[in-house]
Amino acid sequence: MRPKITIVGAGNVGSTAAALILQRNYADIILLDVVEDLARGKALDIQQSAPLLGSAARIKGTSDYKDTVGSAIAVITAGVARKPGMSRDDLLLTNRDIVKGVVESLVRLSPETILLVVTNPLDAMAQLALQVSGLARERVLGMSGLLDSARFQTFVAVELGVAPEAVHPFVLGGHGDTMVPLPRLTTVGGVPLTQLMRPEAIERIVQRTINGGAEIVALLKAGSAYYAPGAAIARMVDAIALDEGQVMPCSVYLEGEYGISGVFVGVPAILGAGGLERVVEVALEPAEQEALNRSAAAVWELVAAMEPEGG
Ligand code: NAI
Ligand code: 2OP
Repeated sequence: MRPKITIVGAGNVGSTAAALILQRNYADIILLDVVEDLARGKALDIQQSAPLLGSAARIKGTSDYKDTVGSAIAVITAGVARKPGMSRDDLLLTNRDIVKGVVESLVRLSPETILLVVTNPLDAMAQLALQVSGLARERVLGMSGLLDSARFQTFVAVELGVAPEAVHPFVLGGHGDTMVPLPRLTTVGGVPLTQLMRPEAIERIVQRTINGGAEIVALLKAGSAYYAPGAAIARMVDAIALDEGQVMPCSVYLEGEYGISGVFVGVPAILGAGGLERVVEVALEPAEQEALNRSAAAVWELVAAMEPEGG
């Protein structure tokens, strides 16, 4: 039997991820949204792409959580997306209430599920999902590092004129201004990036990666990125559903790794059938560790800001 993958939020990111996962042909999908017709309409459209893509997978659009019973993985994209002029706090508090309700409904009917949180602010929402769900930390993951890495990888590949797969990026930290792309640990065809590119060019690419989401928001003017986020979700779902043992950067609740405890931060992790198999630790230089600590502190601030009703 195909595993059931639920995606909550049939907006830009959720429906893009659903279309990509359906194309892979190993899972059936429930696409759930508070706006039922939106979920049903998107699911119908995606289902009709299946014969053209050689997939026998099924997708159902719904607003009824009963359809999510027994989900192996539940992806949470429900919430408000960034728009120009919207404050971070607006996003935090609105999405806190949405994510809390979504997690409660999901876990009640799928107590063994693995939650993949996508809603922003990502690391704080993942922390909320862990608290509300009562699941083990291995079963609550945040998607952001894979997207941030893909952006870094893309910019490096274009700058050097090489295939993106030749670039092995390394990005740590939270999904925000304190993100920590690490050129020292990034390689191109096995060669350290620092031997292939001038420091000014590297710094330009690091800054563009950090501003990667905002650059797209400014261009779209009515929403944020969804093609690359959808692809990153699909790759993380592959890694878990197919027990791939891939090493991927993702937001994980740290319990002492990298000297940090009690907070979600982006780190390289081995993903498999149980969700998080293991955090991969590498020795950081003092400046890199400081940057990671700053990133964790920024996540803590957001977590604290949503405590009164969200904790
Ligand atoms: P969108 O506005 O296109 O879709 C959000 C959907 O959530 C809407 O269809 C809405 O009806 C639905 N929704 C709202 N409340 C709900 C509830 N209680 N239950 C079920 N569905 C509900 O937004 P988009 O572009 O899909 O982004 C979704 C979220 O993902 C945003 O918070 C965005 O910031 C975040 N995001 C995170 C990324 C990451 O790397 N972690 C990357 C891209 C987006
Ligand atoms: C992004 O980085 C908005 O988090 C989203 O594109």
